[in-house]
Amino acid sequence: MKLHATELLFGKNQALGNTAKIVILIILTLIVLTLISLHYPLLGYPSVLVKNSSQSSSDTADQDLVRARAGKKCDIYSGEWVPNSNAPYYTNTTCWAIHDHQNCMKYGRPDTEFMKWRWKPDDCELPIFNPAHFLELVRGKSMAFVGDSVGRNQIQSLICLLSRVEYPVHVSYRPQEKSKHWQYTNYWKYTNYSFTIASFWTAYLVKAKEADPNGLFNIYLDEFDKDWTNQIEEFDYVIISGGHWFYQPSMFYENGQLVGCYFCKKKNITDLTMYYGYRKAFRTALRAIHSLERYKGITFLRTFSPGHFETGIWNQGGNCVRRRPFTSNETHLEKEELELYMIQVEEFRAAERKGRERGLKFRLLDITQAMLLRPDGHPSRFGHWPQENVTLYNDCVHWCLPGPIDTWNDFLLQMLKMEADGRLHTSDRKMKIK
Ligand SMILES: *[C@@H]1O[C@H](CO)[C@@H](O)[C@H](O)[C@H]1NC(C)=O
Ligand SMILES: *[C@@H]1O[C@H](CO)[C@@H](O)[C@H](O)[C@H]1NC(C)=O
Ligand SMILES: *[C@@H]1O[C@H](CO)[C@@H](O)[C@H](O)[C@H]1NC(C)=O
Ligand SMILES: *[C@@H]1O[C@H](CO)[C@@H](O)[C@H](O)[C@H]1NC(C)=O
Ligand SMILES: *[C@@H]1O[C@H](CO)[C@@H](O)[C@H](O)[C@H]1NC(C)=O
Ligand SMILES: *[C@@H]1O[C@H](CO)[C@@H](O)[C@H](O)[C@H]1NC(C)=O
Repeated sequence: MKLHATELLFGKNQALGNTAKIVILIILTLIVLTLISLHYPLLGYPSVLVKNSSQSSSDTADQDLVRARAGKKCDIYSGEWVPNSNAPYYTNTTCWAIHDHQNCMKYGRPDTEFMKWRWKPDDCELPIFNPAHFLELVRGKSMAFVGDSVGRNQIQSLICLLSRVEYPVHVSYRPQEKSKHWQYTNYWKYTNYSFTIASFWTAYLVKAKEADPNGLFNIYLDEFDKDWTNQIEEFDYVIISGGHWFYQPSMFYENGQLVGCYFCKKKNITDLTMYYGYRKAFRTALRAIHSLERYKGITFLRTFSPGHFETGIWNQGGNCVRRRPFTSNETHLEKEELELYMIQVEEFRAAERKGRERGLKFRLLDITQAMLLRPDGHPSRFGHWPQENVTLYNDCVHWCLPGPIDTWNDFLLQMLKMEADGRLHTSDRKMKIK
């Protein structure tokens, strides 16, 4: 069986021509270029950069902080990975939700150390995921995940973490697409908690169409992707994410007109950067959320998840063979990935300010720094059988399950707890005023 790179990377089943392969080569080259930076450690947490770059963020940044025991505020997103001999909390035999390409133990990954770390924020503790607590907090509620296969990777982690308490019932998928049902709209229900999870698959967050069979995409940067924007209005939580698809050559449309392209190599079309498309796509996705009149949910933007190809590009021996996390002084975010991260944060802050006018909450699920430190957590060559002729042989983009991506759900639960505490404080205040 031959697996195609886009399928591996993004969970999409499509025949790829040579152009598409070149395209993916370019994508991965860029990823690799950004990772060369791993060898040049410098200072700087992304959160530090964000704070420096945004003058008016002191009130908003508070949303991402928890009170540590001492009463000090704590940024749960800056810290280090520390050993945790109790992990993992599920295996590929206790959880059926692990996507095949991330079932690293099935494909013979020899080491298990990568599962045995937990995230330790500098100034407080991040509790390990407690499935019963999570389900109590979301009882009667609904949560939508909007994004690509890296987003799907998080949902599968969440289902596995929750499986110690309950498995969901798979409520719907389009039956004719059963074999690739993870790619489309899915609903799962936790019957004992009336909790619904839905996933909406979108590569670019905005309307996009394949322009030719070789994988060049037309991206309509100011148009909603109605496959998800029409469906999220009643949700209590919406988690949006995106990133890796924007490395692909693409044609950008605004007001229905071609305004330029990224790396399409057509002489009469204006060259634009991937950042141009990426910023506008996030802006439009967040505008779509603002445009939903009945929407009262909390929107989480899950930040860019770094890849870790080293010592070569993706199809020329590039791989991720490290077996330990970095410490925060060994690497730092820079170049393309830093730019993509900063764009997300800037667009998020603008949407958050706008949301405050009508009481809509926006929160950052700021996983970038933590995941930058986990070159050891990817499938690498253990996402398929050794003899399989796959285009993307070493996957250094997705995350093994169980693995470091489970921590995204530790963060998510912590954020939900903070919301619950916030509600308590708000009602306390109201009672005092009365
Ligand atoms: C952020 O600002 C602080 C104080 O103004 C400074 O010490 C620090 O070097 C800055 N960090 C970056 C990454 O610019
Ligand atoms: C789970 O992993 C083991 C190796 O640890 C492997 O032998 C087995 O086939 C895997 N099972 C499933 C259902 O993926
Ligand atoms: C719901 O709770 C009941 C009683 O505790 C239990 O027997 C049942 O297995 C639970 N349902 C699911 C889907 O876990
Ligand atoms: C660019 O040139 C090609 C071939 O000459 C033509 O088909 C296409 O319409 C042109 N595109 C634009 C935007 O002018
Ligand atoms: C990096 O930090 C670790 C502790 O987190 C420390 O042991 C190590 O010496 C530091 N390395 C450098 C190069 O500063
Ligand atoms: C793998 O597939 C590619 C493209 O289809 C082909 O050129 C190559 O010969 C195949 N390699 C093996 C070992 O089958």
